[in-house]
Amino acid sequence: MKSLNRFLFALAINIAICTTLFAQKFEELAQTPPMGWNSWNTFQTRIDEPLLKGMVDTYVSSGMRDAGYTYFVLDDGWMAMERDRDGNLVADPKKFPHGMKAFADYVHSKGLKFGIYNCAGTKTCAGYPGTRGYEYQDARLYASWDVDYLKFDWCNTAGINAREAYATMSKAIRAAGRPMIFSLCEWGEHQPWRWAKTVGQLWRSTGDIGVAFDKPITRNGWTPLSVLNILDRQDSIRQYAGPGHWNDPDMLEVGNGMTYNQDKAHFSLWCMLAAPLMAGNDLRKMPEQTAAILTNKEMIAIDQDPLGIECFKYYSFDGLEIFVKPLANNELAVCFLNRSNRQQMINYDWKDHAITDDFSKVNIDFNQTTYKLRDVWSKKDIGTTGKAVKLAVAPNDVVVLRLTK
Ligand code: GLA
Repeated sequence: MKSLNRFLFALAINIAICTTLFAQKFEELAQTPPMGWNSWNTFQTRIDEPLLKGMVDTYVSSGMRDAGYTYFVLDDGWMAMERDRDGNLVADPKKFPHGMKAFADYVHSKGLKFGIYNCAGTKTCAGYPGTRGYEYQDARLYASWDVDYLKFDWCNTAGINAREAYATMSKAIRAAGRPMIFSLCEWGEHQPWRWAKTVGQLWRSTGDIGVAFDKPITRNGWTPLSVLNILDRQDSIRQYAGPGHWNDPDMLEVGNGMTYNQDKAHFSLWCMLAAPLMAGNDLRKMPEQTAAILTNKEMIAIDQDPLGIECFKYYSFDGLEIFVKPLANNELAVCFLNRSNRQQMINYDWKDHAITDDFSKVNIDFNQTTYKLRDVWSKKDIGTTGKAVKLAVAPNDVVVLRLTK
């Protein structure tokens, strides 16, 4: 009897330890905003193994991996049109002749993590089999392929409760046992920032982004949001983001057709927003200028700051906006955005502009404290807050300064 008791006691302790370790693995996901590449913005459903292997190779050779990008995510279009006889999803055999596990192994062999896409509805947005009714089965399949990240969309969901649908998939992932980042993509329609913190690690806050900086542009009868449209919807939800749970203003359009300045501004603003950084350009044809934007380590460090506090809009007048992002060690990032089509000359006297942020409890009076100024794009130290700074900001461009003690 005694030995049985001892055995049961030991078993209980083991279960408790395993449960804690298991929970920790999930809890530690996305402590900083996830960074990666996703196939949708450039290729939509026109993806296949040779193209994607080339992308994986250039992901590494272009320096993206070394700059901190980790995930390689296949969006819509990877599946065959039907599930198999057992109800399992199948990778399109023409696009992926060696199957999805082999492709996942290839991604992992390059030191990257692997992500995949499906949808809470009966079909994905592009009409492939959705996960509705197959949540646990699909999660087990992804785990067997060593998937590290799941983007979960919201098409074909008539009559479905968003909160419950995403909670079910989240539980299915946990039950499958492999820690996966769970990326909710219901376009902010049911205010996921209010309920998704315990469901997934990131949630889309708006509809889809397009290749447009200011005014949205219609292409093929579809008008996605512009960079500035999306930016303007973020200020009111910044308090919901933090380590392990992020607002997602959608993937990057850097390198997809905007001007250099617009790309640079788009990237900077997403970093100021502590946004997940999912590149969406053709890495195999990436010009040096584009690579320089996506791999600017000082800008990325602002995005990845361990406090995980989103910026707030500090000032807005006549096309000029100033965003402030509190950083660890009492540092700050300040971004001057010129939304207008003419150059703006700024003479900014820090001493006239105390910074107060109720959310982060940051209060700075530049008459009391002097910071060093570092220009994150010119990569130059440009003096201190002890003196007014003169800046010329080109149209649709930014100047980003990092303030350190
Ligand atoms: C939706 C999503 C996009 C992309 C497509 C795929 O529009 O918001 O990010 O995943 O579906 O069909």
